[in-house]
Amino acid sequence: MIRLKDGREVVAPATALAENNRGQLQLDTENTPASSLPEFDAKHYYALHPVEWQEEWGAVQGEILTLYPPADTDRASRRRFVLGSIAIMGAIAASLAYPIFRYLIHPLTRKLGDIWVQLSPRSKLEDDVPVFIPYSVERVEGYLEQTITKGVWLIRPSRKLSKAIARHKENLLFPELGWANEADAPVAFSTKCPHLGCNVRWVAEEKLFICACHNSRFRLDGEVVSGPAPRGLDTLPVRINHGKIEIMDAEFRAGIPDKRRSS
Ligand code: FES
Repeated sequence: MIRLKDGREVVAPATALAENNRGQLQLDTENTPASSLPEFDAKHYYALHPVEWQEEWGAVQGEILTLYPPADTDRASRRRFVLGSIAIMGAIAASLAYPIFRYLIHPLTRKLGDIWVQLSPRSKLEDDVPVFIPYSVERVEGYLEQTITKGVWLIRPSRKLSKAIARHKENLLFPELGWANEADAPVAFSTKCPHLGCNVRWVAEEKLFICACHNSRFRLDGEVVSGPAPRGLDTLPVRINHGKIEIMDAEFRAGIPDKRRSS
């Protein structure tokens, strides 16, 4: 198509252009006398080489085709780049998925740990005299890590008391914890009342452990004397390690007749 100075546009086949003897192009069409048309300077144009039409081009004849920008011409390498990027991102996501999953889920499913705590009685234990021993323990509850201050009632039992305590095998055996106390080891009673978990205290005058919440009362061997407690006081695993008394920090579910570990 040729746009003339006066604004007219003329469509002409390339064969209608002819070079004159002054090195200029002249348009020559059937309906337009060559003399009435402008002349063109050949050096402002370049030759287009006709190619044979190919059906697979997906274009119609006469359609103006535009070249892709150079970066877009290599579609195969661009596809390889996209697929490669997806593969790398997938590999990164897969490598992060398990640690993230463990971080989110593991604290909620973590097995209860067996934490042994060394007790430090201020003085020598006397037979059948309960002593309250405080201790601290690091505990992880879900996502929360905290130091908890707790305590136990520790007793060095006389032979008679040992026998009374051993009558209830769950006082010395801890199947859930895979532990059994030595028969002559000190006895550690949990301070938590098996009714609803209030603290029990030793009342020397009455020779009883008493829970002030609902007045459950327990003998020195931990047996329930009266009150709503569904079972006796819970004992904890005890061991002697290099001459030091250690207990396993554990708690048991309140409100049920069986002794089942809760933490
Ligand atoms: Fe101890 Fe209720 S919590 S008697």
